[in-house]
Amino acid sequence: MGDYEKFISLINSKLGIDLALYKEAQMKRRLTSLRSKRGYNDFESYFRALDKDDELLKEFVDRITINVSEFYRNPKRWDVLRDTILPMITKENSSITIWSAACSTGEEPYTLAMLMKEYFPQVSAKIIATDIDINALSKAKEGVYNEQALKDLPTPLKKKYFTFENMLYKVSPSLKSGIIFKQHNLLKDAYPKDVHLIVCRNVLIYFTDTAKNEIYQNFSKSLHKDGVLFVGSTEQIFNPDRYDFKLLDTFFYGKQN
Ligand SMILES: C[S@@+](CC[C@H](N)C(=O)[O-])C[C@H]1O[C@@H](n2cnc3c(N)ncnc32)[C@H](O)[C@@H]1O
Repeated sequence: MGDYEKFISLINSKLGIDLALYKEAQMKRRLTSLRSKRGYNDFESYFRALDKDDELLKEFVDRITINVSEFYRNPKRWDVLRDTILPMITKENSSITIWSAACSTGEEPYTLAMLMKEYFPQVSAKIIATDIDINALSKAKEGVYNEQALKDLPTPLKKKYFTFENMLYKVSPSLKSGIIFKQHNLLKDAYPKDVHLIVCRNVLIYFTDTAKNEIYQNFSKSLHKDGVLFVGSTEQIFNPDRYDFKLLDTFFYGKQN
């Protein structure tokens, strides 16, 4: 087994994250540059150091998870969600479950919570927000953001759902209380059932085709019969039929009954 392959296997045993399911060229480049920056010549010595040093390990997890996110990321897609997809889902269901899968630091589930409160107040919405990275989840629970994270959020929502203090925006407790944050590994853990809307954006791009295939299948099983999957703006599914999905609008897939 080569140096990198051995490292992947040790990381899988230590953290339960299987890097073999992430696109190799990209991941190896990211990790080699971090390893070299820290002064290790090979992955074997880098692993020995990670195994002993929590700060180094945290930096490593940060590097593999890529937590970049924003409120209302790609605004036109959120407008379609609000104007077309959510009215369709809520027409048949007065109580719905929404899953923000790979929610990073919380911008996405809070955006969902705002849309539901603002435009569908008659609907009872349970929002589950998950990510593999517990550091990102603890920031999500804190709910404090800089200006940049809110740049695409419509101003009325910004005014209504945030307080501004010390140059930072703090989400209102009314939004927080509607969201259940928990750790979940898309490549390993059981998926929630009977979900009406799965929002999984800007993470599938990092996975191999085999891993993506498995995830789409799991999403399909996870959805309620009127359920919809909302993916990121570079993540269109080429053969949606394979997973019993039909294209509803760009980047939105409905479950085929
Ligand atoms: C770029 S962020 C996407 C955040 C948000 N969905 C968005 O579009 O703004 C990617 C997230 O995927 C998470 N992630 C990576 N691998 C994962 C896995 N196997 N299971 C669950 N989440 C994972 C990372 O921790 C990171 O927070």
